[in-house]
Amino acid sequence: MRTVYFGTIVHSLALADLQVLPSAAVGVDEDGTIEFLDPNTRSAEASAEKHSWPVGSYSVVSSDPASVSFFFPGFFDTHIHASQYPNVGLFGKTTLLDWLNSYTFPLESSFADLKVADNVYSRVIARTLGNGTTTAAYYATVHTAGTNLLADLALKAGQRAFIGRCCMDANSPDYYCDKTLEDAQKATLEVIEHITKIDPNHDIVCPILTPRFAASCSKELLCWLGKLSTNTNLPVQTHISENMLEVELVKSMHTFADSYAGVYDKCGLLHDQTILAHAVHLTDDERALIAKRGSGIAHCPASNSALTSGETRVKWLLDAGVKVGLGTDVSGGFTPSILHTARQALLVSRHLSMEGDESHKLSIEEVLHLATVGGAEVCGLSNKLGNFLPGKKWDAQLITLDCKNSPVDIFPWELKTHEDLVAKWLFNGDDRNVTKVWVDGKLVAGTAFTS
Ligand code: GUN
Ligand code: FE
Repeated sequence: MRTVYFGTIVHSLALADLQVLPSAAVGVDEDGTIEFLDPNTRSAEASAEKHSWPVGSYSVVSSDPASVSFFFPGFFDTHIHASQYPNVGLFGKTTLLDWLNSYTFPLESSFADLKVADNVYSRVIARTLGNGTTTAAYYATVHTAGTNLLADLALKAGQRAFIGRCCMDANSPDYYCDKTLEDAQKATLEVIEHITKIDPNHDIVCPILTPRFAASCSKELLCWLGKLSTNTNLPVQTHISENMLEVELVKSMHTFADSYAGVYDKCGLLHDQTILAHAVHLTDDERALIAKRGSGIAHCPASNSALTSGETRVKWLLDAGVKVGLGTDVSGGFTPSILHTARQALLVSRHLSMEGDESHKLSIEEVLHLATVGGAEVCGLSNKLGNFLPGKKWDAQLITLDCKNSPVDIFPWELKTHEDLVAKWLFNGDDRNVTKVWVDGKLVAGTAFTS
């Protein structure tokens, strides 16, 4: 049945343009597509009538007029390692390369056991959906069966997901790697085949080619994946310039290119369906190359702080026309929440500006844009997701600030504008405020869903 969502609507139209509509209606058809957005209306029924929706042909979902609540687009997590969820918060004083060896590879290798995979993947999907993440770009592990299971579970839960089987045929521990180039190729194709069988049009779950990073792949594997991406139109995700030791390692391993971005480019992996995580230490030339190729950056501020990787210059990237979204990078990052990640992005931008250049600062509107529209752009989905414009899909969350046990204390006489409420939510909110979550027009999570 068609649905009219009525109440306060908050969504991003452009980088610094967060639209707050206190009495709006969104009409969503049976297949989850937004038919109309009425920015100012007295009731759901008035809007329905205006758009010639007969009485009885639709249901109504209202944000509670007696509470402080609003509809907001679902979040995009453009970079998350589903398999690393048990390790959130565990990183000690390590930096990237010793963290991979001491914490990450031992955990990921345990996913040969499907019971481990089932347990962890079920929980990470439930947790991220409950935090309002309606689309996630997941890394699984090297294991084919476990990766296929992640796709099954995301589809069953109704979360949009890019599912990547990690390719790593070089410079990786013997106990956790692709033993040969052929093994990596075969396993990659098997995962694509499985996902295409369970979701033929890749509407909800989509395979994503995943060379783990240039430091763990042979040139042959990188170039084979580049060709495969060209031939199949499948997206690509990988890491880039996260840590200085890693940058040096890549330079010494892949002498055929003159930069980290150049390695991916020479192998056909840099295009407009490519998600590059981190991008902390890029040069001006690499930024220009990435902008030219139309690749997107997954900005992972919590991870970059935790692993002491550095501070990504988001404004510097945006100024060059590079697409940017947010990534939790669980478990380099300690939080599965994109709201928390947006908060971290705002703080990291202030750390950068403490070095003397105010232009690095990101506003509340800007980080919420990165969390939604920016993420949709990075995932190549901005024509169908990211905000509530007609023609897009209803992937949404209902946020209630004064819910039971809310972490946000509201003093109504102090709040002058709806923008103030959004600020309170960004800085103090969490998954307790996520009352309902929809993907493709279907209710899939939220406190009101599970209780
Ligand atoms: N580089 C290669 N693998 C990883 C990983 O699992 N996490 C992060 N943050 N960086 C990586
Ligand atoms: Fe990562």
